[in-house]
Amino acid sequence: MLDLTPKREDLDPIEIASRDEIAALQLKRMKWSLAHAYANVPFYRTSFDKAGIHPDDLKSLSDLAKFPFTVKQDLRDNYPFGMFAVPREQVARVHASSGTTGQPTVVGYTARDIDTWASCVARSMRASGTRPGDVVHISYGYGLFTGGLGAHYGAEKLGCTVVPVSGGMTPRQVKLIEDFGASTIMVTPSYALSILDAYREQGLDPRKSPLKVGIFGAEPWTNAMREEIEQAFDMHAVDIYGLSEVMGPGVANECVETKDGLHIWEDHFYPEVINPETGVPVADGEQGELVFTSLTKEAFPIIRYRTRDLTRLLPGTARTMRRMEKITGRSDDMIILRGVNIFPTQIEEQLMEVAGLAPHFQIELSREGRMDEMRVHVEAAEGPMGSEALEKAAETLKRRIKERVGVTVAITAHGSGGVARSQGKAVRIIDNRPKA
Ligand code: DLL
Repeated sequence: MLDLTPKREDLDPIEIASRDEIAALQLKRMKWSLAHAYANVPFYRTSFDKAGIHPDDLKSLSDLAKFPFTVKQDLRDNYPFGMFAVPREQVARVHASSGTTGQPTVVGYTARDIDTWASCVARSMRASGTRPGDVVHISYGYGLFTGGLGAHYGAEKLGCTVVPVSGGMTPRQVKLIEDFGASTIMVTPSYALSILDAYREQGLDPRKSPLKVGIFGAEPWTNAMREEIEQAFDMHAVDIYGLSEVMGPGVANECVETKDGLHIWEDHFYPEVINPETGVPVADGEQGELVFTSLTKEAFPIIRYRTRDLTRLLPGTARTMRRMEKITGRSDDMIILRGVNIFPTQIEEQLMEVAGLAPHFQIELSREGRMDEMRVHVEAAEGPMGSEALEKAAETLKRRIKERVGVTVAITAHGSGGVARSQGKAVRIIDNRPKA
C-alpha cells in the first residue's frame, strides 16, 4: 500500500505540541467551558449546585473529577433545546439521534461550532491519508445523523472534491466510485462490506478500484476486519470515532502511518476513562468507560458525558495527543450469556479467522426455559462451496468461540447473501428474549 504519511509541516501545530502546551491550553479552555455551561444552561447550574461545586473550583485538570456526570437521560429530559447555551437564533444547525427507543436527543451548533467541527474532521481525514484535491465519496447517511454532513463539511474544509452520496442504492455506489475516481471513501465498515459485495456482483475487481483510503467508523469493528477490507480493496482502512452528543465524527482518529488506536483531538475534547460501577477515573492504560468534556463548543457544551463506550487511554505516538484503543463495544451491547460477558466484536474476531465464511454476521438471543441462548448467523463466502464444507466452517467457528470466548453458541450458516445487510450502522444483536 502507498505511504500516505502526512508531512509534519502540514499538521496543525497543536497535534505535535508538547504535553505541557496541550495541558495548558486544555486548562484554559476547560475553565471557559465549565463557566459557559454554568452561566447559560439551567441543567448544569442545578447539577453543579447540587454537587456543591462551582466552575471557579477548577484549579487543575484533575479537578474535573469533582464535577457531576451528564448522561443521555439528561438530554432527553431537556428535549428539545433545553441544553443549548446560546439563544436558539444563534444555533445554525441541529442534529438528532434516531430516537427509536424513546425521546430523540437533540444537539445544536453555532456557525463557529460547525467550523470547529469541520476542522476536526479535516484533521482526521489528513491523518487518514486524504489530501486536498482528492475525490471523497461519502456514504455515511445525510440527515439528522451526524455522519454525512459531518464528513461533508470536513472534506470541503480540507479542500477535497466531495461526492455526497449518502447510504443506499448500493450498485450505484460502485458506479460513482469508479466513474468519479474516488480515492477516499467514508462509510461504516459494515456498509463497506456491502459495497464490496456489489463490486463482485458487477464482475469488477475491487483491488483495481481508485480507492486508496477508507475512513470507517460509527460502529465497532476489529483489526481483523481492517485486514479483510484492506486486502479486498488494496487500500488503507482507518478508524474514525465520534458521537453526536460530543460533536459527531472527528472526535478521534487513527493515523495512517501507525494504525495503533485513535488520537483524541485533545485541544477540543477532554477524555477521561472511569470505572463504570464507581464512577471513579482510572489511570491511563486501564479499561473503563469513556467520558468526554467539550472544551470549545458554544451551542451545546457537554460536561463529563458518559459515552458507554469501553476502551482505555494510551500515550501519543504519531501525535502527542493521547490515543484511545479501538472500542471494544458499548456497555449497552454487552451480552451476558450464562455469566460470561460477550461483545459482538469478540464474535467478529473469531469469524474473520474461519475460511469459507463471509465477514457478515448477526447475533440472535432467545430464551429456552430459564436459559439464554445465543445463535450466530453467518453465511458462506462468495464462490462455489458445498453444504458439507459450509457445515464444517460453522463447526470450526463454534469451536473457536467456545475456546477463545468461553461460551457455547449455536451457529446457523446461510448461503451467500443470507445475513441481513446494513446501509449504515450494522444491527448486530436481535434480542428475542421475553422482556422482563
Ligand atoms: O456515529 C458519529 C460518527 C459518524 C462517527 C461517522 C464516526 C463516523 P452517533 O450516531 O451519536 O454518532 O453514535 C455514537 O457510535 O458512542 C459509539 O458507540 C459508536 N461509534 C462511533 N464511532 C465508532 C468507532 C456517530 N470508530 C456511537 N468505533 C458512539 C466504535 C463507534 N464505535
